Amino acid sequence: MNFDFTENQTMFRDMVRDFARQEIAPIAQQMDEEGTMPETLVDKMREAGFFGLTFPEQYGGMGVDTTTYALVVEELSKASAGVSVMICVHNSVGSYPLAMYGSEEIKQKYLPRMAAGEIAAFCVTEPGAGSDAAALTATARKEGDKYILNGGKIFVTNGARAQFLVVLARTPGTTGHKDIHAFLVEKDLPGVSVAKKEDKMGLRASDTVAIDLEDVEVPATHLLGQEGDGFKVAMSALDGGRIGIAFQALGIGKACLDEAVKYAKVREQFGKPLLHQPVIANMIADMGTEMEGARLMGYRAAWLKDAGRPYTKEAAMAKVAASEAAWRAADRAVQIHGGYGFCREYPVERYYRDVRVTRIYEGTSEIQRMVIARHLTRD
Ligand code: CAA
Repeated sequence: MNFDFTENQTMFRDMVRDFARQEIAPIAQQMDEEGTMPETLVDKMREAGFFGLTFPEQYGGMGVDTTTYALVVEELSKASAGVSVMICVHNSVGSYPLAMYGSEEIKQKYLPRMAAGEIAAFCVTEPGAGSDAAALTATARKEGDKYILNGGKIFVTNGARAQFLVVLARTPGTTGHKDIHAFLVEKDLPGVSVAKKEDKMGLRASDTVAIDLEDVEVPATHLLGQEGDGFKVAMSALDGGRIGIAFQALGIGKACLDEAVKYAKVREQFGKPLLHQPVIANMIADMGTEMEGARLMGYRAAWLKDAGRPYTKEAAMAKVAASEAAWRAADRAVQIHGGYGFCREYPVERYYRDVRVTRIYEGTSEIQRMVIARHLTRD
């Protein structure tokens, strides 16, 4: 067993760390306050290749392995989780369905555009279909060489900026997971509209919107996989997505740890720095230990994915362990800062809000536990 990163992985991590420190961290607080991300930053990220990270080289991407991707996500998340989620969704659930299940024709047509920075989003969730993804009601009616899509999707990360949507919809009049189909939809098609932008607790730099689909005509060639494969397409995309979210949580958690240590070194109470008070040192030790455990689980899930081995359970374990360890780290970081941690002046206030969603999206902690338990208990 070798715990060293390759030269390439270290190089990527350092490059992204520099980029995040120079280009993202200085404006992270402002993006959070204003609830926006400047297009100039998105353009710089396009130029630096962030939108092609996981895309195969033959389609204009960088083709990085999943461990490298995890390192990149962790570094970006230390600076701004709102920025990192844009990159995560684009490089996983927004594009994986096309890369894995699209025909060669549409892969050649669209993957290079996505890799160059035309942004992708993933539309599965609906008002009545959150954790129970198979309860979705958006419809896809086949008419000749097209499908006509109708329905409403919510909580679509990247939905406002996206040029491409992966949309899950079912044959009208059906229920259950077997009649669900996945499509690549160009967002500028007639009938696609952005309905509502969410005003969120955290990840405020990223856009999360509702998307309405009204008689959207999608060419049959844009079906991803076969008819009826949609649920499995979505689930397999989420498996990889969950590794990214695990490392997003760990990036936020590491930022919490760094800020807590920095503060505990200089803040004096009872005549000495907080760091020299055992109760505080213990909190810092627990933050580091819990996150390191989750990080190793994440690397293993990444390794299994790249080895082409099953990793559904391991991705779920990594996500639940990482998001919960990082959430506790954020809580401890605020606690160590005392009253200051409750004020916007200190970044731990933002981290505390940002980390919360990592226990919710791409499958709640409860859903991850359901997935894990099913794997551990099946014959
Ligand atoms: N890969 C491939 N196939 C899978 C799979 C996987 N990981 N998981 C399940 N399947 C297959 C099963 O094998 C089964 O196939 P058969 O019909 O051949 O038997 C089929 O899918 C149905 O599986 P289940 O019976 O397990 O389905 P279920 O209805 O009980 O649901 C669930 C399973 C795990 C709860 C699923 O609904 C789920 O993951 N829910 C959470 C949804 C979610 O994560 N949403 C995130 C939204 S996107 C987002 O958050 C992005 C963002 O903004 C950042």
